[in-house]
Amino acid sequence: MFSGPPGPARWSVREWESLHAGKSRNLSVWSDWFSSGRLVPVNDIAVDLGTANTLVYVKGEGIVLNEPSVVAVEKGSRRIMGIGLEAKRMLGRTPEGIEAIRPLKDGVIADVDVTEMMLRHFLKQVTQKRIFRIKPRVVVGVPSGITELERRAVRSSAMSAGAKAVYMVDEPMAAAIGVGLPVETPTGNMVIDIGGGTTEIAVIALSGIVSNTSIRVGGDELDAAIVTFLRKNYNLLIGEPTAEAIKIQIGSAFDFGEEREMEVKGRDLVSGIPKTVTVHSQEIRECIQEPIQAIVEAVRRALEITPPELSSDIVDRGIVMTGGGALIRGLDRLLSHETNLPIHVDEEPLTCVVRGAGRILDDLHKYRTVLVQ
Ligand SMILES: Nc1ncnc2c1ncn2[C@@H]1O[C@H](COP(=O)(O)OP(=O)(O)OP(=O)(O)O)[C@@H](O)[C@H]1O
Ligand SMILES: [Mg+2]
Repeated sequence: MFSGPPGPARWSVREWESLHAGKSRNLSVWSDWFSSGRLVPVNDIAVDLGTANTLVYVKGEGIVLNEPSVVAVEKGSRRIMGIGLEAKRMLGRTPEGIEAIRPLKDGVIADVDVTEMMLRHFLKQVTQKRIFRIKPRVVVGVPSGITELERRAVRSSAMSAGAKAVYMVDEPMAAAIGVGLPVETPTGNMVIDIGGGTTEIAVIALSGIVSNTSIRVGGDELDAAIVTFLRKNYNLLIGEPTAEAIKIQIGSAFDFGEEREMEVKGRDLVSGIPKTVTVHSQEIRECIQEPIQAIVEAVRRALEITPPELSSDIVDRGIVMTGGGALIRGLDRLLSHETNLPIHVDEEPLTCVVRGAGRILDDLHKYRTVLVQ
C-alpha cells in the first residue's frame, strides 16, 4: 500500500515527523511534492522513433527525452550494455565483445528485437519516474515505409512498456503537423524531412499523404562520404562520430562565400599512427555532392508527380524542410536555386516529428484520420 513519499534524500527528519503528527503546515510539503510532478500520473506520450534519434514528449510537460537510437550489446549473450547517449559514445570505441548497434537503419527497423528493447527502455524511463501510474496513450511517429511486422514490434514494445493504446503516424505527416501546417485543408503542402537514414518528401492535403517520395539517403550517407574522402585523400581513418562532427561544423551544400576549416584527428592508414590533418569546407562540400544531389533529384521527382492543382499551392506556399539534415548549411539555398521555390527551414527541425505527434495527442479526434491503424 502507498504509505507516503519515499526517498530520504528528499525528506528531512523534521518534515517526516511533523507530517506524521498531522500538522497542517505540511500540506505545503505535499503540494510541493505534487507540483514536482512525481505524484502526477503519466500523461499521454508522443514518440519520434527515428533512425538517428528517439524523442519522447509527455503531454503537459514537453520533450522529456532526446537520445540517440543506439544500443550497445554484448556479442554472443546479447546482453544490453548501454542505451542511448551512453551507447552512442561507444560507437567506434567498443572493446572486443561489445557491439554498438543502430537498430533502425536506412529508415527501416533493421533489428526488430533490439528496437523493441530500446523503445521499451525509453518509455519505461519516462513512466517509471511517476508513482501513481495510469496507463498512457502513446502516439509513435514511424518511417512511412515500415512493414506490418515492424508495426507490430513497435506496438508490442509500447504496450509492454505500459501503454494503454498505441497509435502510429507517418513521420512526414507528423513533421507537417509539428511545424503547424494546416494538413486538414484541401491546400497542398510539401514537406521534406531529412533524417539520419532517409529523406522523405511528402505532399499533404485533406489529412492524407497525396504523394510520397522516399530515398534511403540522409545525414548518415553524408557521414559515410566524409569517411571515404578522408581515407582516399588523406590516408586518414576516422569513425562515424568524427565524420558527423565534420559535417556539422564545416559541412555545406552551397557555396555562399563563407569557407571554414577544421583540424581532424584519426589514424594514418599506412603507418598506423594517429595524425591530424586540416580539412576545408570546400572539399567537404565536394565530397558530399553525390548524396546532396540525390536529395535534390528526389525533390525534383516529387514535384513532377505532384498533381497540378497542388503544385500551384506549393508555388505559392513554398516547401518546408524538417529533420536534422535540414540544418546542413546552404541546403535551403541550393534547393531554392534548383527548384525556384521558397524553402523554409523550421526553427527546430530535429523536434518537428515529436511535436507533431504531441499535437495529435492533444486532439486525437481531429487527427484520427492521419493515424495509421
Ligand atoms: N547542425 C547539423 N548540421 C547537419 N546535420 C545535422 C545537424 N544536426 C543534426 N544533423 C544530422 O541530422 C541527422 C539526424 O536527424 P534526425 O534526428 O531528424 O533523424 P531521425 O529522425 O532520427 O532519422 P529518420 O527520420 O531517418 O528516421 C543526423 O544524420 C545528424 O548528423
Ligand atoms: Mg525523423
